Amino acid sequence: MKLLINGAKGQVGSELVKDAQARGYEVYGFGSRELDITHFEQLMQKVEQIRPDVIINAAAYTAVDKAEQESEQAYAVNALGSENLAKASKQMAIPLLHISTDYVFDGEKDTPYTEMDQPNPTGVYGASKLQGDQAIEAIWSRHIILRVSWVFGEQGNNFVKTMLRLAKQQDELSIVNDQFGAPTSARAISQSLLSILETDNFNQPDFPWGTYHLQSEPGVTWFEFAREIFQQAEKLGLINKTMKLNPIPSSEFPTPVKRPANSKLDGIKLKQNFALKPVQWQDDLQQMLKNMSAITS
Ligand SMILES: NC(=O)c1ccc[n+]([C@@H]2O[C@H](COP(=O)([O-])OP(=O)(O)OC[C@H]3O[C@@H](n4cnc5c(N)ncnc54)[C@H](OP(=O)(O)O)[C@@H]3O)[C@@H](O)[C@H]2O)c1
Repeated sequence: MKLLINGAKGQVGSELVKDAQARGYEVYGFGSRELDITHFEQLMQKVEQIRPDVIINAAAYTAVDKAEQESEQAYAVNALGSENLAKASKQMAIPLLHISTDYVFDGEKDTPYTEMDQPNPTGVYGASKLQGDQAIEAIWSRHIILRVSWVFGEQGNNFVKTMLRLAKQQDELSIVNDQFGAPTSARAISQSLLSILETDNFNQPDFPWGTYHLQSEPGVTWFEFAREIFQQAEKLGLINKTMKLNPIPSSEFPTPVKRPANSKLDGIKLKQNFALKPVQWQDDLQQMLKNMSAITS
């Protein structure tokens, strides 16, 4: 089976390429330089040339705060780019698997968000992603939109890497302890998407297309996430000191975009329709840190 993967150089895209190749798919992965999803003609040209069986979109504009200043670019990639992919998939009559975000929600809810909850993004990034999701839903029925949260992986920038970098410069850090969510590894997202693709009735008339939430466990605050990162990193010898961590409220760490206080996702629909259980991020974190320590030692 031929897969066209956009955003192939990003955190999730690079895992998808690696994972899909290991599973024997014929993979065509493109970064933004080789294939810019904001250009429909360029996209169609590649799609007609490759004639993939499925398109997987891991491309996105993901700089949450910067998006406030660069809203045109954020909307171009996240809204128009997704719309283009939906049109191209429809034109070729092939399924589109797409990734979206917990930041489409405002975080006012106390319990995990289900697919039935009303999105209400707090910033440009979330709003542009939501517009992309809505464009896909409106244009092409044979889609899966997988909403995920707090992504980390070996490739690209993320909270884990930021913490490890800061640990080289400081012994003490203050971390926000009133935003609740769930870290999710790029690897788990890739595995979940490919498991959906490998469902027996994939692409059959009874296939349950639609929007799904990937639940990751356990739910934590950024402070608790940082504590786990440093505990594991110290155990593996990636850092040689015990970091002093101070829990602080969001009000003491102002950002251009207000983050949702709760963005935990409920994965019951994914479990019911695809027998996919919530993923466990701590094991994936350990694997990532082990790989990093193997590289540095
Ligand atoms: N990061 C998070 O914490 C997080 C949380 C929730 C949901 N998500 C969602 O998860 C998905 C994957 O995110 P990620 O963390 O893997 O993102 P990422 O590491 O920032 O990678 C995104 C990739 O998109 C590509 N891209 C940007 N503009 C493009 C364009 N015009 N045409 C084609 N490709 C373009 C970039 O390619 P180049 O590098 O080649 O320029 C980049 O490698 C996204 O849908 C994101 O919204 C992420």
